[in-house]
Amino acid sequence: MKKLGLLIITLAGLLPAQEKKPEKLAPYYPTPEIVVEKMLQLGELKRGEKMFDLGSGDGRIVIMAAQKFGANGVGVELDNDLWKQSSEKIRSLGLEKTAQIIQGDVFIQDYSSANVITVYLLPTSNDKMRPVLEKQLKKGTRIVSHDFEFAGWRPEKTVTVEDDGEGRSHTLYLYIR
Ligand SMILES: C[S@@+](CC[C@H](N)C(=O)[O-])C[C@H]1O[C@@H](n2cnc3c(N)ncnc32)[C@H](O)[C@@H]1O
Repeated sequence: MKKLGLLIITLAGLLPAQEKKPEKLAPYYPTPEIVVEKMLQLGELKRGEKMFDLGSGDGRIVIMAAQKFGANGVGVELDNDLWKQSSEKIRSLGLEKTAQIIQGDVFIQDYSSANVITVYLLPTSNDKMRPVLEKQLKKGTRIVSHDFEFAGWRPEKTVTVEDDGEGRSHTLYLYIR
């Protein structure tokens, strides 16, 4: 019996990352549109560049990246309803060629082609994402984080955005790897 338990534990450890239960890194809380625009401006997102939004919610960052900045936007979203909703919005706007949402876990994607990464997760989530990004990102990739810093990285710029809609200010951190 003890041997069987040991075998199960060993096999579980050998499961590929994709089969492990994804961790919910933050609740859904959308970035106001005015702040989305500032994030993409701060990241100096250019036409034809590739950007990823980690935990893309209703897809607003990816959609603006494609629509207003002419970039190729990819969102990664764990929640099935949000994935569906954002994919439908992209289809209805005719942006399928330059915007897409992957339904999945941010931990197991390939970000090596990214020019810009946007993030609105929690500080502990940034701690967990940091080694993944450090391993994968090419030199010069810009990372823009909404409200929460990446501990251990020094921001190139820190910007505060006043948002009348929510009545609070938002802090944006720009990192260049
Ligand atoms: C604070 S919201 C930000 C949404 C969007 N990026 C924005 O700024 O408007 C965080 C999002 O991350 C998603 N999320 C949480 N953990 C995730 C994971 N492990 N993989 C993919 N998405 C995740 C949540 O479902 C939620 O939609």
